[in-house]
Amino acid sequence: MAQDAIEQLGTHRLVPVLVLDDAARADGLAGALVDGGLPVAEVTFRTAAAEESIRVMAARGDVLVGAGTVVSVDQVERAVAAGARFVVSPGLSRAVVERCHERGIPVLPGAVTATEVQQSLELGVSTVKFFPAGTAGGAPAIAALSAPFGGVRFVPTGGVGPSDLAAYLALPCVHAVGGSWMAPRDLVAAGDWATLRAAVADAVRLVNGRRRDEP
Ligand code: 3PG
Repeated sequence: MAQDAIEQLGTHRLVPVLVLDDAARADGLAGALVDGGLPVAEVTFRTAAAEESIRVMAARGDVLVGAGTVVSVDQVERAVAAGARFVVSPGLSRAVVERCHERGIPVLPGAVTATEVQQSLELGVSTVKFFPAGTAGGAPAIAALSAPFGGVRFVPTGGVGPSDLAAYLALPCVHAVGGSWMAPRDLVAAGDWATLRAAVADAVRLVNGRRRDEP
């Protein structure tokens, strides 16, 4: 049986949050992620190119592609049809979560308060996106929130960068960390795959606990 997509995110521990302005960049971007050692992509529904970009990346077969910024059931349907393997939502929407369950696609809803975590659990979701992580209290807030919710896993995203990545990953309840820093929109738009591949590789090295200058 195929490993659940959410579990695979935990294997990589990093989720690149991507904004594509042109689906013509999708294949090159996917290649740079793979070459950089991070075959994962959260393609956000913030642009008209998202759906086709997911389709292009999913067709390659070598990248775990999900849809991000999914805020409606229509977007859930479009993400599934395009081949997305997981759905990420900035907040907690019962309609989005329930449609994902109906479609059999794993979903990471946003939750930053005890109430939202409880609501997620009531909907059968125990891995949530902690967004926006930086302004919602960062790693200390997640540590405090995890005390009453022992079985809940968090994917902090929003304002995370190389300087605070380790603090998040040090928490046992942090499943993976999301962010755009390793694949910024302007580099994607420029098709600067060499720079992007290097940034991705740097992020992967940080996760693996290796210094940048090590071979
Ligand atoms: C998201 O949608 O998850 C965030 O906008 C990504 O946040 P970042 O750009 O601060 O990494």
